[in-house]
Amino acid sequence: MLKADELKEEAARAALDLVEDGMRLGLGSGSTAARFVAALGERVAAGLRVICVPTSEATRLQAEKLGIPLSTLDETPELNLTVDGADEIDAELRLIKGGGGALLREKIVATASDRMVVIADESKLVKTLGAFPLPVEVVRFGLLATMRLVEAIAVEAGCHGEIRLRPGVGQAPFVTDQGNLILDCAFGAILEPEVLAFALKRVPGVVEHGLFLGLADLAIVAGSGGIKLLRRPGA
Ligand code: A5P
Repeated sequence: MLKADELKEEAARAALDLVEDGMRLGLGSGSTAARFVAALGERVAAGLRVICVPTSEATRLQAEKLGIPLSTLDETPELNLTVDGADEIDAELRLIKGGGGALLREKIVATASDRMVVIADESKLVKTLGAFPLPVEVVRFGLLATMRLVEAIAVEAGCHGEIRLRPGVGQAPFVTDQGNLILDCAFGAILEPEVLAFALKRVPGVVEHGLFLGLADLAIVAGSGGIKLLRRPGA
């Protein structure tokens, strides 16, 4: 196994310690979250009782195959804990998410949870968010107008950089589980994530953005020196 994969596995397994019998869980998306789902599947096979809401179709399929009991937010609107990965994590536990395109459901599920725990290898820790292009989910209608508005509003919020429509298979754009498109915004350092987040939400064509602010309570970060637990200041 590659070192990064081993670290993802360590972080995922450490998060299992937070899972208690009878919990209602949100299951994240991406390669790190997939390791948590796999490890949870082992526990479920051994008798653990949980009910889980997946944040993507990919996670739903994985969990289904493992026999993990699934629900929806319509049936189970309040969750105890969501465990998910991240593309970047800063010292205040502000996150960039959406590298896998599942940011909308991820944010809805995390917001419906009492606690959100992020699992990651140490490469995800950053001083300032933004080296990873910020994913922004937009509707298809009026795409060009939305892109121009996102660019203009980002400049007002102090962010400049190329905005690209995420490519999918062949000539087609990437389409999210909700049938929307993703703009990857290479802004570089995002010095005021709250200002940018607020500005992006003012663009009508923007459905959601990948800045997760004030959502994560704890990050379990695996590195060469072992596991580090980072708590959100004030959480
Ligand atoms: C999925 O949309 C993302 O938010 C993932 O949680 C994020 O991209 C982290 O993915 P990895 O664990 O694969 O790095």
